[in-house]
Amino acid sequence: MTPEELEDEAARPRPPAYPGITTTERAHGRRLAAIHQMYRAELSALARLMGEIRDELAGPEALAPAVAGTQLARNFALFGTACGRDCALLQNHHDIEEGWMFPSLAERGGAVLAPVIARLKAEHEVIHRLIGDLHAAAQMLVANRSADVFANCAARFEALDRAIRSHFGYEETVLEEPLGALRVPI
Ligand SMILES: [Fe+2]
Ligand SMILES: [Fe+2]
Repeated sequence: MTPEELEDEAARPRPPAYPGITTTERAHGRRLAAIHQMYRAELSALARLMGEIRDELAGPEALAPAVAGTQLARNFALFGTACGRDCALLQNHHDIEEGWMFPSLAERGGAVLAPVIARLKAEHEVIHRLIGDLHAAAQMLVANRSADVFANCAARFEALDRAIRSHFGYEETVLEEPLGALRVPI
């Protein structure tokens, strides 16, 4: 699966209906969306920092002789470490889903839910590759704070941000009822 295919809404399987689901069960299922919201906020903060660096690179600070002590240098360092941290957070979120949530859903949801879980796992593989790419680019940025290395890192971040937001949207919508009705711990 490519990052473009990941975003293909028409190819994403839908779950079965759970007509007996209660309000409490539905509220439980919505917890996944609340968890995703925290990660979205992290990604938004990083995107803001990226915008600040772009502005600084276009301004006189980038031409200053002693760049080492400037806000630009500090923001480069911040961006590099924040990218690395977000990579680890997102990977951890997926490890938890694959280690606990998906196996419970598969066991309790039966064959009708299997295509949804298979699709989510395939999307995780794409995102895993994008996380690896960003992590490598972020490490490079910590060692070499140049505009070229930043541009590479920013492009990797944008690709991951896009894929993760698309995946979160699908996952939290498609799993809200199954997680609730099947009482899968989140
Ligand atoms: Fe996921
Ligand atoms: Fe998730």
